[in-house]
Amino acid sequence: MPSSVSLSTQVAGVVLPSCIYNASGPLCSHEDELHVIGQSASGAILSKSATREKRMGNEEPRYVDTGWGSINSMGLPNEGYLYYARFAQQAVAYDKPYFMSVSGLSLEDNVHIIRELEPFEHIAGIELNLSCPNVPGKPQTGYDFEQSRRTLEAVFPVCKQPLGVKLPPYFDIPHFQMMAEVLNDFPLAFVTCVNSIGNGLVIDLDSEQVLIRPKHGFGGIGGDYIKPTALANVRQFYTLLDKNVAIIGCGGVRSGEDAFEHILCGASAVQIGTQFMREGTACFERIAGELKNIMAKKGYSCLEDFKGRLKTLDG
Ligand code: DHB
Repeated sequence: MPSSVSLSTQVAGVVLPSCIYNASGPLCSHEDELHVIGQSASGAILSKSATREKRMGNEEPRYVDTGWGSINSMGLPNEGYLYYARFAQQAVAYDKPYFMSVSGLSLEDNVHIIRELEPFEHIAGIELNLSCPNVPGKPQTGYDFEQSRRTLEAVFPVCKQPLGVKLPPYFDIPHFQMMAEVLNDFPLAFVTCVNSIGNGLVIDLDSEQVLIRPKHGFGGIGGDYIKPTALANVRQFYTLLDKNVAIIGCGGVRSGEDAFEHILCGASAVQIGTQFMREGTACFERIAGELKNIMAKKGYSCLEDFKGRLKTLDG
């Protein structure tokens, strides 16, 4: 592998030794899993989305890998935010930052959690999840621009760590612009694009049944099918947001080529969800190696050589 090629990057003012790391969701709910990520080639450790209290989540089956991707309706099973906050001290053992995903069930919960995180100085940044599609009766905040603004107005004054948001995918140009207008009014450290495409439906032809039990089979779609949507969201927000906001790409990354495309669209780092669930932490080293090989072939030695430099056909 070409050693002259570096994948290091900066997010929230801290250095990640590699731009490839885990998405919140798979295999990051328990301490032992977080340690495994710490010991791997992942460029950071990101926790499962935490709520105020511990939750068991939705009924099983609630995650199915379909080959081309995944459908999930986990329903935020997690140990409660204090568990993930306390892990920050243990994460110091690893040469990479620890980020915590926060997904309160209400604005009040988000404010409470983020205020309580203040003493945990080893949390490098908070990824505030505005896009969980799987809690029955709870709309995705990111699709309500006014509610997104109210949330950010409420959390920033109590937040001591760098804060970013995880967005749902958008599909219409005015929606990108409306959300960017909200986000540009706040000192965000990063924006993660995208969460799963919410409320898809996958069906088994033989049994004529849905694959997962919660919500009559409706769940968040990840994996190959969402890559074009993820790339579009990375590109739009890279173009529309203030240049000091790092874009984290997430969606459909299973190879170095996919990661390269996200970075070309403007991503400073790339998260792996469905493929991490499938392959375990080996995916971080494999994808990083593939990305380095592509960069070496193209004569690039660091991400800045091609980040955001996507070409269009209009000269
Ligand atoms: C869950 C799913 C998500 O897409 C998310 O952002 C947070 C939580 C879940 O079902 O647990």
